[in-house]
Amino acid sequence: MSSNAQSPVSCDVKELALAEAGKRRIEWAFQSMPVLQTIRKQFIKTQPLAGVRIAACLPVTTETANLLATLRDGGASPVLCASNSLFTQDDVAASLVRDYIIPVFAIKGETSEQYSAHIGSAIDSKPQITMDDGCDLVSVLHAKRQDALEEVIGGTGEASNGAGRLRTMSKEGALRYPVIAINDATSTRLFDSRYGAGQTAIDSIIRATNFLIAGMNVVVAGYGWCGRGVAARAHGMGANVIVTEIDPIKALEALMDGFRVMSMPDAAAAGDLFITVTGNKAVIAKEHFERLKSGAILANAGHFNVEIDLECLARMATTRRLVREFVEEYALRDGRRIYVLAEGRLVSLSAAEGHPASVLDMSLANQALSVEHLVKNHSSLEKRVYAVPEELDRKVARMKLEAMSVKIDRPTPDQEHYLASGPEGT
Ligand SMILES: NC(=O)c1ccc[n+]([C@@H]2O[C@H](COP(=O)([O-])OP(=O)(O)OC[C@H]3O[C@@H](n4cnc5c(N)ncnc54)[C@H](O)[C@@H]3O)[C@@H](O)[C@H]2O)c1
Repeated sequence: MSSNAQSPVSCDVKELALAEAGKRRIEWAFQSMPVLQTIRKQFIKTQPLAGVRIAACLPVTTETANLLATLRDGGASPVLCASNSLFTQDDVAASLVRDYIIPVFAIKGETSEQYSAHIGSAIDSKPQITMDDGCDLVSVLHAKRQDALEEVIGGTGEASNGAGRLRTMSKEGALRYPVIAINDATSTRLFDSRYGAGQTAIDSIIRATNFLIAGMNVVVAGYGWCGRGVAARAHGMGANVIVTEIDPIKALEALMDGFRVMSMPDAAAAGDLFITVTGNKAVIAKEHFERLKSGAILANAGHFNVEIDLECLARMATTRRLVREFVEEYALRDGRRIYVLAEGRLVSLSAAEGHPASVLDMSLANQALSVEHLVKNHSSLEKRVYAVPEELDRKVARMKLEAMSVKIDRPTPDQEHYLASGPEGT
C-alpha cells in the first residue's frame, strides 16, 4: 500500500511519513562521501546540467539519494525508479520526494507489474540522460518506448552485468545513444569490488551468524575482483583461507598471495565457511555437498542466487528450518547439518547494507562526472558503449586522496621527459 497524499511531486513511494528517518540516513551517508561533496559544490557554482532531464533506474539507497541531489543541484531535473524491487529503502524514497523534491517511483517488494510501471513513469519524464544499473530502463526504452528515445542524448550504466547487456546491444547496432559503463572505471571497480565487496561479504556473514572468523577454514570460490577482497578480509580476521578457481593465472596469483589453492572437491572436505563469488552457476553442487563437514556454512557473494545448487541440496535434505534470521539449516539423510545464508542470494545486500558510502563515493562521483561529460560532448560521441574517460577516473582518485589529506608526488619535467622518451640507463 502506498500513501502519496500531500506529495510535492508526482511519485509512488510506500509512505511519505518515513521521510524523517530517510533524511537522517541520507545525511549520515553524505558525511562519508567527500568526493561527491566536492562535485556538488562545483555543480552549484557552474550549473553544468541546467535544464537536463534525467531518468535514473538505480538502487534506491542513501548513496543514490546523494547522487541525485548532486545532479539536481547542478541544474538537472532527475526522476528515480528502482533497479531491483528488493533493494529499495522506503524511507530514502520518501525523503527524496518530501525533502529533495525529486520524483521517485519505487516501493520495496513491489510486484513485477509495479516494477515495470515505475520504469514507465520514469520514462514518461522524457529523459535526455538515462542512468541505469542492470540495463532494464535502457531495454524498455529501446524495445517498448521508442517514442521517448528521440530526445535521449546519452546514458550511464552502473553494474557489470548491465554493461554486458549494453555491449551486446552496441555490437548488434541496436543502441541508439552513447552510454558510459561506470563499473569499468578503475576508481570504481578496484575499490567497490575489492574493498566494498570484500568487507561487506564478511560483515554480512558475521551479522547473520555471529561466528568468530579467526581460526576457521574459509573457502573463497573465485579469485577475481571481488574474491581477492573477500580472501584478504577473511585472512585479516585470522581465517585460514583456501581459494578455488578455474583460471590457472588467478589460481597462481592466489597461491603467491599466500593462500592455499585447492579444487572444490578437496576444499569441500576441509572448509568450515564457503563464500562463492564467481558469477558462475553450481560452483558448489552435489559432489561437493556430499563431502561437506557437518556444520558447514554456505554463503554467496556473487550477483545471482545460482552459485550454490540449492535445489539439489533441498533434494538431499530430510528437513529444513530457519535457525536464525538469514540462516537456514538443511538436515541431510546421513545426519549432517548444512547451513545456508540468505537463501543463497547476494549475502552482502540480504543480510547487511551493501557497500559503505565511502567506497560508493567514487563510483557515484564517476556517475556525476560522466553525466556532465555526456552533456558537454554528446554531439561528438557515437552510439556505443564507452569507458569512463581516463582523466575523469584519475580525477576521482585524486579527489579522494585530497579528501583524505594524502599527498603524492608529481613527476618533475625532467622525469616526464625521461619516461616519455623511453627509459634507458645501465
Ligand atoms: N558482493 C558484492 O558486493 C559484489 C560486488 C560487485 C560484484 N559482485 C558480483 O560478484 C561476482 C564476481 O564478480 P567479480 O567482479 O569478482 O568477477 P571476476 O570475473 O573478476 O571474478 C570471477 C572469478 O571467478 C572465477 N570462477 C568462475 N567460475 C568458477 C568456478 N566454478 N570455481 C571457481 N572460480 C570460478 C573466474 O575465473 C574469475 O577469476 C559477480 O557475480 C558480480 O556481479 C558482488
